[in-house]
Amino acid sequence: MDIKQLSLFDRVGGAPVIHRLVDLFYMNVLAEPKLAPLFPQDMSLVISKQKQFLTQYFGGPPLYTNEHGHPKMRARHLPFPVTKERADAWLACMQRALEETTPEVALREEMMARLSTTAYFFINKEE
Ligand code: HEM
Repeated sequence: MDIKQLSLFDRVGGAPVIHRLVDLFYMNVLAEPKLAPLFPQDMSLVISKQKQFLTQYFGGPPLYTNEHGHPKMRARHLPFPVTKERADAWLACMQRALEETTPEVALREEMMARLSTTAYFFINKEE
């Protein structure tokens, strides 16, 4: 099979890599003063939901939808003030996590391009 026909989820290395990516990502988020105050003290639920969500977002099994229903992810972010500055900070945390999990630059760029579109779509407040 042509490698391009595989999902991003498979090409990045499947569940073990997505799980490590999300763990590293939230370590970065909690160390980022622009983002940390938005999140609860106990991050275990957010971390497990994000593992489920990114699995299906990158073309793996629909774990998030199976357990929590339709993601409606922009609506789920409306209670939180998502500014352009926070979207950029979120993406920077993800970029640094990906640099640790995923050595292939082209693959990282493909993932970041998708995530950027989504993150900027979630902006719901002027600076
Ligand atoms: C643009 C900047 C973003 C900010 C500031 C942000 C912030 C947040 C916050 C504060 C929460 C809720 C934490 C809680 O439960 O109390 C959350 C949940 C979540 N976010 Fe984001 N987020 C951003 C972008 C994204 C993106 C781009 C994605 C996915 C590609 C994403 C996926 C999720 C998921 C899956 C959850 C858990 C939803 C649930 O409770 O079911 N977020 N985010």
